[in-house]
Amino acid sequence: MADYTKYPLKFRVLKVLKYLRLFGLMRTLNKVRAAYHMQKKYSTLPNVKSGNTRAHVGIAGSGNFAFSTIAYYIQKNYGRVIQGAMDVDKNRAASLCENYSANYFTDNINELIDDENIDLIYIASNHATHAEYAIQALNAGKSVHIEKPPVVNDDQLGRLCFAMQNSKGNVGLGYNRPQSPLGMKVKAAVDREIGPMMINWFIAAHALEDDHWYFSPTEGGRVLGNLCHWIDYTLNLIPEKSRFPIKITPASSRKFQSDFVVSYEFADGSLAVITMSSKGHTFEGVAEKLNLHRGNVLLSMSDFETLTIKIDHHSRRYSNFYRDHGHEGAITRSYEMRAQSLDSKARESNVRNVWESANLMLRTKDAIERGETVTAYGYKIET
Ligand SMILES: NC(=O)c1ccc[n+]([C@@H]2O[C@H](COP(=O)([O-])OP(=O)(O)OC[C@H]3O[C@@H](n4cnc5c(N)ncnc54)[C@H](O)[C@@H]3O)[C@@H](O)[C@H]2O)c1
Repeated sequence: MADYTKYPLKFRVLKVLKYLRLFGLMRTLNKVRAAYHMQKKYSTLPNVKSGNTRAHVGIAGSGNFAFSTIAYYIQKNYGRVIQGAMDVDKNRAASLCENYSANYFTDNINELIDDENIDLIYIASNHATHAEYAIQALNAGKSVHIEKPPVVNDDQLGRLCFAMQNSKGNVGLGYNRPQSPLGMKVKAAVDREIGPMMINWFIAAHALEDDHWYFSPTEGGRVLGNLCHWIDYTLNLIPEKSRFPIKITPASSRKFQSDFVVSYEFADGSLAVITMSSKGHTFEGVAEKLNLHRGNVLLSMSDFETLTIKIDHHSRRYSNFYRDHGHEGAITRSYEMRAQSLDSKARESNVRNVWESANLMLRTKDAIERGETVTAYGYKIET
């Protein structure tokens, strides 16, 4: 994410005004606070004495998203329940801790894992550590919310699923779009129809500098870092029995590491194309357009802000006052899920969902990197 605190004053004022319109006062203020949080350097790290006896949540990775979105929605919905904030950069952990009245900050994940007062850890660190921290937490009987992507390779996916099967803790993923009000309306509209679907996404994402950490060889690049959102949402639109095998065909230029065109052919003949372009600065944040056709439904959605659903001669338009990508829903869902005791069938179903979405993401990366068609299979189906 760009450091907007260093941009000219006029740009910053215009950006704040635009965000006020798109996200409302409180989220905009918090995004501004997050920009300063990212720059915070203490001359002496603070001595924290929150004395917060109700706290039971850990945060692993205290960067922009943890500060601006995860901690914000946790506090908004449940009050001061953050026990410990962790980051390899202690300044960030300390700043998040101070701003959200947590009881301590640390640069050592084991402090959160060994803390008996913590029953849920939100993981928003670098991508290569998501699964490793999640596995450690699950093995200690804790629940986790894992930001996207849940894994960066097949080895992590296998170990994560094994830990999920054998832990009393639960797993929520940071895929927020299915939790958004318009995302749910889209799903309900397509579920009422029958037959294959035609799905088309156009996404204009932020351009990232070449040395951004997303591009480090161990972090998985932008298929795992960004495209995974639309891969997961698209997979979930297709009825479970109609999904596999999925033929993934890329049409991307290998000259660019953030621009993709990739198509999916599902078992029932449904077709999806995801186009992601990252050419420059997207002033209003990520822009995303969905067009979808199934049976008699033709729908079109922009930025999780407006949605038009046409069925025969009826046309209905939905418009949210603010953009809502479902972040609050995903964060509260993981919080509520921690207390649920799942039977073995529900646990197996969670494992299958995590595996199938992550496997489709990993196979998409393979297809794009190799420039060839790759087939993704369902959970426990021999390839
Ligand atoms: N769901 C969404 O819409 C959404 C949006 C943005 C980011 N994210 C995800 O949130 C996570 C954080 O992204 P961000 O934008 O805040 O990035 P960021 O760079 O602002 O924050 C990442 C933080 O992780 C810390 N970190 C690095 N290595 C670490 C390690 N080994 N252990 C613990 N912490 C470590 C860094 O110091 C940094 O503070 C990423 O997984 C990202 O994909 C999700």
